[in-house]
Amino acid sequence: MSFELIIAETRGRVGLITLNRPKALNALNDQVMDEIGAALDGFEADDNIGAIVITGSEKAFAAGADIGAMASFSYMDAYKGDYISRNWERVKTCRKPIIAAVAGFALGGGCELAMMCDIIIAADSAKFGQPEVKLGILPGAGGTQRLPRAVGKAKAMDLCLTARFMDATEAEKAGLVSRVVPADTLLDEALAAAETIAGFSLPVVMMIKESVNRAFESSLNEGLLFERRVFHSAFALNDQKEGMAAFVEKRKANFRHD
Ligand code: HXC
Repeated sequence: MSFELIIAETRGRVGLITLNRPKALNALNDQVMDEIGAALDGFEADDNIGAIVITGSEKAFAAGADIGAMASFSYMDAYKGDYISRNWERVKTCRKPIIAAVAGFALGGGCELAMMCDIIIAADSAKFGQPEVKLGILPGAGGTQRLPRAVGKAKAMDLCLTARFMDATEAEKAGLVSRVVPADTLLDEALAAAETIAGFSLPVVMMIKESVNRAFESSLNEGLLFERRVFHSAFALNDQKEGMAAFVEKRKANFRHD
């Protein structure tokens, strides 16, 4: 797949998207988001892809939505153009797991893009923030909703209202990121985690993603019921037979993703 502002490539069973707008610190304009969406379409349709990594540069995962592109927006431009939902929602609807590998700035829409992913692995150089308040706007791609779910109300309010940045250590302690790694190993770590995931049964991986996400959409009892039903359905998979047979026979499972 060939794009202008991102690079989309495959590494084994992993789809890798690298934001490639370095002069603007990977600011997210419509074209970038359209290209991410098209790359995700391609990876979702490809049976040989089991997990996806989205990363940026050493200096910036993404410094936010493109401020220049938004500066002269009227209300009607934003509303009629369905700004954000039209192409940003594609990340949320991806059924295969996505890892955000974050080095440098992940600000505003950049932090929100990372939070739309399923796992955030941060370089020790990562800085997260929702500084929209300084621009006279508020987070608009999930910052006021996903951040409190990830780090709790106190820290989310702090970040959104003061515009201060949170470093990787604080982000890990707060629960926003799953691991912090040295910057020079970030991509290797993220690709290794993605490769591990992609080696498991794809339908099971998708069921796990769907079930964990359900925890944020339902009461505990509803979520438990959802999990139980999906759990029962796993016994219809050839991969369940293979996984358990491999354990009993003391060998590595060879999943066929069905
Ligand atoms: C457009 C951006 C940009 C952005 C940086 N650039 N962030 N362009 N949109 N969000 C551009 C700069 O204009 C500059 O271009 C180049 O990238 C390098 O940036 P500098 O500011 O010179 O770098 P530095 O001094 O290192 O400062 C880095 C920074 C700062 C702290 C990240 O750039 C910054 O504060 N950026 C804005 C962060 C922000 O407010 N994000 C939220 C955006 S609103 P030139 O051409 O001058 O070299 C948002 C809404 C989300 O995200 C809701 C809807 C999705």
